[in-house]
Amino acid sequence: MGIHSREPKCRRGLAMIVMIIFGSLLSVFVSPINDKRERKTLAGPSETVQGVMAVHSELLPEKKLSICIGNLLDQREFYYEKEKNGFLDSSRLISKTGPCWLRRYTVEHAVTCFDRLDSNRDKLETNPVLNRRKQLRFVFMGDSRIRQQFLNFIRLIPDYDKQSLPNPIPFHHHGDIEITSDILGVRVSFKWRPLINDNVTETIRQWAITDSPERPYWIFLSMTAWHMLQGYGADYQLYQKKISELGPLLGQLANVSQVIWLHQYPSVDFYGGIRASNTDIVSEKIYGYNKITRKILESLRTRIRIWDSSNPLVEEYTRDCTILKRDEKAKIGDPSVPMDYASAYFNCDDYIHTGYAALSQATQLLFNDICNSQME
Ligand SMILES: *[C@@H]1O[C@H](CO)[C@@H](O)[C@H](O)[C@H]1NC(C)=O
Ligand SMILES: *[C@@H]1O[C@H](CO)[C@@H](O)[C@H](O)[C@H]1NC(C)=O
Repeated sequence: MGIHSREPKCRRGLAMIVMIIFGSLLSVFVSPINDKRERKTLAGPSETVQGVMAVHSELLPEKKLSICIGNLLDQREFYYEKEKNGFLDSSRLISKTGPCWLRRYTVEHAVTCFDRLDSNRDKLETNPVLNRRKQLRFVFMGDSRIRQQFLNFIRLIPDYDKQSLPNPIPFHHHGDIEITSDILGVRVSFKWRPLINDNVTETIRQWAITDSPERPYWIFLSMTAWHMLQGYGADYQLYQKKISELGPLLGQLANVSQVIWLHQYPSVDFYGGIRASNTDIVSEKIYGYNKITRKILESLRTRIRIWDSSNPLVEEYTRDCTILKRDEKAKIGDPSVPMDYASAYFNCDDYIHTGYAALSQATQLLFNDICNSQME
């Protein structure tokens, strides 16, 4: 299966080094500010926003930035600023009203956020029936690209009584995953649905019309990439038809849940030691699929949100891959080192799965979108 045959295998030692190098690629340019702020914000979840702002303005005396609140996932409302040296400042976003800062979410912050989301739910939702739900339910539905986002999301859920099914989560798992914490009252699910099919439409329809405990509070979807594969027809017209059928149901669900459609990140078009050329899912093709998806979903005028504001992070990552001409081939096939999720997806030897350096920043952005309005 084309999309998975290129997933990387490598030795952990080298993996760590590459990860560190990559981690610094995105962070080094903002580190003088970020590092200080991060250390201070670790003070704990009880810290007030005013407190953090004071710390921030102390570091940037001329600019008193407020925390970013709003639809941070839509690039047309909030976007990363490119600095003069060409690198992104991942600690801030720019909106119509100027710059604002992004909180660096820790596990403690995430716990505070979940608690407040839970207690504020009756205020947030107009439908009184919904308050009967016991768990804050997040669903990530689609292919391995949204699985990556899911795996990064659950890293911020503390291990009080966290349960995982299956446990451990197999590498490259093509199946559903459930993470629950009764203490937090949180349930996060991954649903392996790489293609838009009858099962997906039927599931969304049921959630839209019935207020069951299965209905997500937030749902994140990504199921475009497999539609581009030759093995599944690579049929642009068919994809349009499918998304046009699913769209209205998602729109209906968006009246009672937060529905987020993840735009496809760019791919690494020349990857690995041999600089293999990926032909199935190239960035240009992705651009076309993103464009038509937005056109169709927006024409419905619903509350579905398209998430594309973290694309520049991934563009930065793929650019680095091209410049650095990384060769991870030597690591493939070493039986002494098991692959796991912690060390996977960072080494440019994989055209479709975005590196951790960019992905972890995208997860931070997501937590800022979900939580910032709760943290005051
Ligand atoms: C979709 O598929 C899953 C897993 O195969 C199954 O458990 C579920 O019942 C199906 N849902 C619908 C609505 O067909
Ligand atoms: C969402 O709710 C509004 C107000 O009740 C309604 O007018 C609209 O048709 C609903 N949208 C969808 C897609 O069901």
